[in-house]
Amino acid sequence: MNSEQLRELLGSLTLEEKVGQLVQFNAGQFIENSLGITGPDGELLPAEDLNRVMGSVLTFENAAQAKALQDQHMAADPKKIPLLLMLDVIHGLRTTYPIPLAMGCGFDDALTAECADMARKESSACGVHVTFNPMVDTARDARWGRILETYSEEPLINGRMGAAIVKVTQGEDLSDPENVACCVKHYAAYGAPEAGRDYNSVEISERMLRETYLPAYKACLDAGARLIMPSFNSLNGIPSVANKWLMNRVLRKEWGFDGVAISDYAAVNELVVHGVADGPEDAVRLAMEAGCDIDMVDNFYYRYLADLVRKGIVPEEMLDTAVMRVLALKNELGLFENPYHGADEEKEKAVYLCDTHREIARRAAEETAVLLKNEGILPLKKNLKHVALIGPFAEDIHLNGFWSRPGAEKDTVTIPEGIRNLMPDLELIIEKGCGAEIGDTDRSGIAAAVQAAASAEAVILVLGEPENYSGEGRSRAELTMPGVQQELAEQVIRANPNTVAVLFNGRPLVLTELEKIAPAMLEMWYPGTEAGNALARLLWGEANPCGKLSAGLPRTTGQYPMPYNRMNTGRPKPEPDTQAFPFTSCYLDTPNLPLYSFGFGLSYTDFVYESLELDRTVITPEEQLQVTVTLRNAGERVGKETVQLYLRDKVASVVRPVQQLIDYRKVSLAPGERTQVTFTVTEKQLRFWDFDCQYGSEPGTFELSTGYADHLILTKTFELK
Ligand code: BGC
Repeated sequence: MNSEQLRELLGSLTLEEKVGQLVQFNAGQFIENSLGITGPDGELLPAEDLNRVMGSVLTFENAAQAKALQDQHMAADPKKIPLLLMLDVIHGLRTTYPIPLAMGCGFDDALTAECADMARKESSACGVHVTFNPMVDTARDARWGRILETYSEEPLINGRMGAAIVKVTQGEDLSDPENVACCVKHYAAYGAPEAGRDYNSVEISERMLRETYLPAYKACLDAGARLIMPSFNSLNGIPSVANKWLMNRVLRKEWGFDGVAISDYAAVNELVVHGVADGPEDAVRLAMEAGCDIDMVDNFYYRYLADLVRKGIVPEEMLDTAVMRVLALKNELGLFENPYHGADEEKEKAVYLCDTHREIARRAAEETAVLLKNEGILPLKKNLKHVALIGPFAEDIHLNGFWSRPGAEKDTVTIPEGIRNLMPDLELIIEKGCGAEIGDTDRSGIAAAVQAAASAEAVILVLGEPENYSGEGRSRAELTMPGVQQELAEQVIRANPNTVAVLFNGRPLVLTELEKIAPAMLEMWYPGTEAGNALARLLWGEANPCGKLSAGLPRTTGQYPMPYNRMNTGRPKPEPDTQAFPFTSCYLDTPNLPLYSFGFGLSYTDFVYESLELDRTVITPEEQLQVTVTLRNAGERVGKETVQLYLRDKVASVVRPVQQLIDYRKVSLAPGERTQVTFTVTEKQLRFWDFDCQYGSEPGTFELSTGYADHLILTKTFELK
């Protein structure tokens, strides 16, 4: 359709039909109620009317269902406007790849894009038109259980990975049935809830918001994302879905976004609960005024919007603008010509869990694992005959993480399966030892675990946090391993010091006590479908760990929030610090620095950083600077290393971070190989929100370093004229 035809279509719609375009229910409500909604909502319109006018559906099962929904709707709708079908495809549809936080640890935008591309193929075959992905909420407090859905505590990584996902998922042309539109979420600063409690209010300065939280969403929109989801939280007092400053001024006016904004689940309704709307009608008015086009599931638009327009409280032009955005998206997806888009049962069979996708998922799981510690235990020797696999997750199938599809666990390669695939002749004794739930004090399995450990040549000790402890609504106030896992670890390691601790968890955990006793520690996060195969290959050195932490691991929960790019204080803590009451910014009972800092991760080989060279020491704003880092693989295995480039602005009109990642690149080096990684630094990377909250750079001296956070090396300075 051309824009003239779209306008004609809009002009032909009744008020109820227009409102219908802005209404979304989930497929469960839609189908199970045989097109009706029960309770008071059901009384508003007869069931067939809802089906006739409804604009979009979320959370459906498969291609057959997608087609059935579309057929049912198209048969009822005299205007023949297809439904938009939306789904949360966050880290894979059927082939599940590692959780986003793990993908961040991959420090590899191309790998993230490759995974997103596989998700695109599976999603389009399933009939998805819009995915609620990427989620790029910068998060610096792991008490918040949704930290697993984001890539990093660093907006640069979130923005780069988010943009890579958008590009590959949407492709060049959304009408291509294999492409899927992206909805960026959760705008804005949902990852900064007070006290780490999900849905809690967010209070931050405009400078902090603009420097740390907004850039990742903006990067995804600049990459072309067609939708955005305002977040549940209030931001500086105003819930995002009604936040006119955020939505109208920043999003639409400053950034020029003309795509669709869709509320988060029942967030319009929650304006009443927040206490900023005086009842449902007021909530609808506020959300419409803030340019929220689609109301997800709570049916407030469905019930109240038409009347508000009739009364002149919501201007009809405002409604028309929202409807037009939705129609334009449907048109761009080519739905008027092909309402099924990519839905195809045969294709589903061909792509779901196919060998190519499993291979990508396995490689992603290998390249996102972070080797935290290794006192010569890893890789395990190939001639081991007798290994004990111990721990609450030893045989677990829940290794996919939040937002994996229901039933995905049955496709997971478990750890014993993975080990047997690689080492078929190995004798493996398996003991659970203990549970991993909060309050789980049952120690009755520890004795058998200790016995198994004592009788084995090596032990793989699998610890962490149950899969359902991270994700939406899963905040924790204490981030140690739940239950008696630490006791299990102590006794097992005492019985057999040739033990590697493997960790499965969706957030940074406090591993301080484990680190004191474990000779080796490998952080696997939730690796997805190929978990067991990836772990076995990492343990026996078929794959070499190369992940780096995209969020630091704390010593204690009390260190949160703990951004690596903290601001300096007037009394920074000296290192080492020996005074009892030093009157510096520090704790009496714990060091300031994390147990493992942002950017840290070991390999089975050794990388030596030989030099960092600048091609000039003074630049003007128009000039650029080349930074060349030379490194060498001084070990005996092929390995990948992420070269990280950090900036420090020495003097500015406002306090600047002590270290700021401004670029990164992952390279592969053969044993003995030397390589040079060159980064280009421009004036744009030196900008910040200054004294007057204006975005720009200031002349002066800057430092550039490599290494990783809190452990910077090879620093050189330059000057911006
Ligand atoms: C979540 C969103 C998600 C939506 C739809 C909400 O509860 O916050 O991230 O996209 O549900 O499933």
